[in-house]
Amino acid sequence: MHLFTVILIAILLSNNRALADHLSQFPVVNTSLGSIKGSILTSRLGKNIFAFRGIRYAKPPIEDLRFRPPQPVDPWENLLDATEDGPMCPQPAYNRSEVSEDCLRLNIYTKQIPGKLIRIQPQNVLVYIHPGGFYAFSGQSHNNAGPQYLMDQDIVLVTINYRLGSLGFMSTGTEDCPGNAGLKDQVMALRWIRNHISSFGGNPDSVTLMGYSAGALSTTLHLISPMSRGLFHRAIVMSAAATSQVKIPTDQIELARKQAALLGCPVIPADKMMACLRKKPATDYADSLEYMFVISWNPVLLWKPVIEPNFGQERFLDQDPTEAFLKGDFMKVPIIAGITKDEFAGPAVAFLRNETLRNELDLNFDTLAPILFLYERHTEESKNRSRLLREEFLRDEPLSLNNSLQGLNYLFADSLIGFAMHRFVQLASRHTLVYQYKFSYVGRYSFLYYPYEKTPYGAVHHDDLLYLLSIPSRAPIFNVTDPENLTVERLTGMWSAFANTGDPNNAQISMPHWKPVTKTDNHYLNIGQVLTMEIGLFAERFAIWDQLFPLPTENTE
Ligand SMILES: *[C@@H]1O[C@H](CO)[C@@H](O)[C@H](O)[C@H]1NC(C)=O
Ligand SMILES: *[C@@H]1O[C@H](CO)[C@@H](O)[C@H](O)[C@H]1NC(C)=O
Ligand SMILES: *[C@@H]1O[C@H](CO)[C@@H](O)[C@H](O)[C@H]1NC(C)=O
Ligand SMILES: *[C@@H]1O[C@H](CO)[C@@H](O)[C@H](O)[C@H]1NC(C)=O
Ligand SMILES: *[C@@H]1O[C@H](CO)[C@@H](O)[C@H](O)[C@H]1NC(C)=O
Ligand SMILES: *[C@@H]1O[C@H](CO)[C@@H](O)[C@H](O)[C@H]1NC(C)=O
Ligand SMILES: *[C@@H]1O[C@H](CO)[C@@H](O)[C@H](O)[C@H]1NC(C)=O
Repeated sequence: MHLFTVILIAILLSNNRALADHLSQFPVVNTSLGSIKGSILTSRLGKNIFAFRGIRYAKPPIEDLRFRPPQPVDPWENLLDATEDGPMCPQPAYNRSEVSEDCLRLNIYTKQIPGKLIRIQPQNVLVYIHPGGFYAFSGQSHNNAGPQYLMDQDIVLVTINYRLGSLGFMSTGTEDCPGNAGLKDQVMALRWIRNHISSFGGNPDSVTLMGYSAGALSTTLHLISPMSRGLFHRAIVMSAAATSQVKIPTDQIELARKQAALLGCPVIPADKMMACLRKKPATDYADSLEYMFVISWNPVLLWKPVIEPNFGQERFLDQDPTEAFLKGDFMKVPIIAGITKDEFAGPAVAFLRNETLRNELDLNFDTLAPILFLYERHTEESKNRSRLLREEFLRDEPLSLNNSLQGLNYLFADSLIGFAMHRFVQLASRHTLVYQYKFSYVGRYSFLYYPYEKTPYGAVHHDDLLYLLSIPSRAPIFNVTDPENLTVERLTGMWSAFANTGDPNNAQISMPHWKPVTKTDNHYLNIGQVLTMEIGLFAERFAIWDQLFPLPTENTE
């Protein structure tokens, strides 16, 4: 039954037209913490969406709580206004009043709300963890995570924020700041959802985690985190995984010191540094972001999750991700996992188009490659790897836009995204169902236009999100006559069928049977203008990476 039925009953019972009018614009949900007032949005196909946005799921992580694990929220008395998005976490932003450190918020979208007189069938829940390299973006509806597409399906959608950059990922290897705060935020959001989503018509026993890029890397960590056990039941891992060549450290003290120096704080001793860092305004962190990188916003993955030393705290990560998946020590839930055809072409274009950067990369390839492509620096082995990658992908030629673009694109794509996914799929599929995809559809809109800033380069990083979430800064909402309609229908159909049943083949669309990956066949669904089943995703390229970064047990040295 519909909320409008509730409203109708409310009208009949109260005969109070003013109240009824108010209720029909502002749905109210009662939770055990307090009551929440939402608003009504319209889905792409014209359905009503009850939206509850900007709900705090943790105390504001400010002052002494900065850098610390999130704390649960206290109950409230008055009606909580959740009619608009909350702020995004501190980051450089066009509009500063949309940013605040009080950013631990989530948005809930539902089409049915249970009430005193109304029983409903609880809907399956899809939780979205946003991308942005652990230092950008948010789950806000009006910037990059609008619900208009997914809410045409029968699900409850939740989007979450988590702390970013130094504020979310600082790790000094001490009890004071063991790291992973942003990931613990995500866990806190999942716990909030488990406790309260039924008030919004969601089923806490059927939660699908869907993460993109940094959010996907996070999702693969939730699969192995002792803190996340049992909080979700299926996973959609889009364009990143934690099983890459990146060595997961136990702290990033050097990065903490870099941040401290940029903000004029002492870098030793650690307690003085932290005390100073706790006093700096959050805007200082956003303003210094670009100076945290080594070269031109690289390495793209700067803040890393850490394997936390044990100080008796609740640890988010206590083992190496690749080893955990290798051992089969993870939540063996059904998984959708995949990448886009062209992924990280953006930095390749940026480096090759800029003469200074291009020359620098050309002359210092052996030292810059490990920074850009995320492997150990300064060792002989590192130098060997750089040489081999240059031979294999760039034919050892001088770098030029014309000749090196594809090779450099592949290097960024594989090192930042593809190889980790290849390894994740290989290891996870030994223990659980993995439906793999490659997204190759190219529509009229994209996150990278090249050449002439007019034509989409291909299917790059984030391009598949354009058909799952509305992203007003990048594309309009596609209507049923737009050519993109079919891709919206397919992606939202398959993803929600998976959230509802654990099998994307239950989507009400025309598609080939999507075969899971098996021991012998690396099946994947190619999501292009047509849907086709294929075998062996970028097998030749990933063989090079496999050879350079062998699995621990396959290491024959
Ligand atoms: C900035 O954000 C605030 C709060 O969301 C909003 O009221 C204001 O209109 C925005 N300003 C601009 C220029 O977009
Ligand atoms: C929510 O709580 C308010 C105030 O306690 C009450 O008037 C209202 O009937 C409740 N609504 C539902 C749907 O339970
Ligand atoms: C090229 O890159 C350098 C180093 O990042 C930067 O200072 C310069 O502004 C860039 N040039 C152009 C034309 O974008
Ligand atoms: C690096 O490559 C050289 C030449 O191929 C080889 O002799 C050496 O053992 C390699 N070193 C490492 C640490 O891999
Ligand atoms: C790059 O390719 C374009 C088009 O193929 C050609 O016009 C141009 O001369 C080439 N530039 C160089 C430096 O080779
Ligand atoms: C659909 O959107 C296109 C622009 O992308 C517009 O030209 C067209 O009129 C729209 N169709 C409908 C039915 O709204
Ligand atoms: C557009 O997609 C909707 C579902 O998302 C579907 O019902 C409709 O048939 C599609 N229209 C066209 C013209 O493909």
